Amino acid sequence: MTSGVWAAPGRVNIIGEHTDYNNGYALPIAVPQVVTCTAVATGDGRARVSSRQHPGESVNAPITGLAEADVSGWARYPLGVVHEYLRRGHAVAGVTLELDGAVPVGAGLSSSAAVECAVAIALRDLFALPVADTDLIDIGRAAENTYVGAATGTLDQSASVLCTAGHALFLDFAKGEHTQIPFDLAAAGLQLLVVDTNTPHQLVDGEYGKRRTECQEAAAALGVRALREVTDVAETDRIGDPVLRRRARHVVAENARVLAVLHTLRGRHDPREIGSILTAGHASLRDDFEISTPQLDAAVDTALAAGAYGARMVGGGFGGSIIALADAEHTRHIAAAIATRFHTEDFAAPRTLVAVPSAGARRIS
Ligand code: GLA
Repeated sequence: MTSGVWAAPGRVNIIGEHTDYNNGYALPIAVPQVVTCTAVATGDGRARVSSRQHPGESVNAPITGLAEADVSGWARYPLGVVHEYLRRGHAVAGVTLELDGAVPVGAGLSSSAAVECAVAIALRDLFALPVADTDLIDIGRAAENTYVGAATGTLDQSASVLCTAGHALFLDFAKGEHTQIPFDLAAAGLQLLVVDTNTPHQLVDGEYGKRRTECQEAAAALGVRALREVTDVAETDRIGDPVLRRRARHVVAENARVLAVLHTLRGRHDPREIGSILTAGHASLRDDFEISTPQLDAAVDTALAAGAYGARMVGGGFGGSIIALADAEHTRHIAAAIATRFHTEDFAAPRTLVAVPSAGARRIS
């Protein structure tokens, strides 16, 4: 094979935020929006990368010189993956990568992981590299951590690689295990509305890394290796520092919320019952983890007031999107109510989409 087209999706996380790097649990779905990567094996020792969303900004660099190459912005994500393959000793002889992304950038839907995973699966298949799906996840993470410089966990890449249509993906980060959980909202007359607050977040900024460090410090204060090991929220009261105590309380309670949602979905209860758990997750991210914004809070409050069963911010925080679980016939009304509130508050106009649990990374032609 010398060429092909691969696709990898963005994600929304149903519940389980900032738990991945604490060895906890999460429950994401893949969204229908994908990044596509048209890849051609050239064998000429160069990596060429272009993006339909960034015309005139293509990069052409020697494949063995990527560590030193002067690459900035969007191109660091695909080239970081090429670099990571080489660093792991895989034979990538030269490649042309054309990216086209339908995952909104900065919306907290993991457009960056979609790029990484589309490129990672393309290179694996194109050069027939002996790389398992779990390695694709780690290659994406490593590219983001070291080449891009964002200290993220593996939630986004796991969702982009492993999700399947019609399912939520239960992730246990300590065990490295995943389980597909049937998630058919349509059958219950429900929809998961995603509202992008149009206030882009930036993970390379310091706050994400700061939260990660605080979680490590909180774990050390409790004498555990990772906060996942703590299962009783009352245990976090032992932490003297009030900030670290709040951070730990979020993580411990959030892991319990993932298990509670999992229990509801597995027990074939009415999925509306997860609504209040999602809303509690938002309060925790707002008050204990302190990563919400006025726009995210306004969107959540308005969604709830307009009849959603539950709503919360998703992703790393400081901007991006919320999700709202609502009866299908109400989502349009909820989206309109949020747009009106944003207009009144003089916020940027929000964008909405409906998240249907979709397939993970794959070859499409
Ligand atoms: C970002 C990171 C993930 C995860 C989430 C928060 O999306 O990339 O690793 O930590 O934030 O749950």
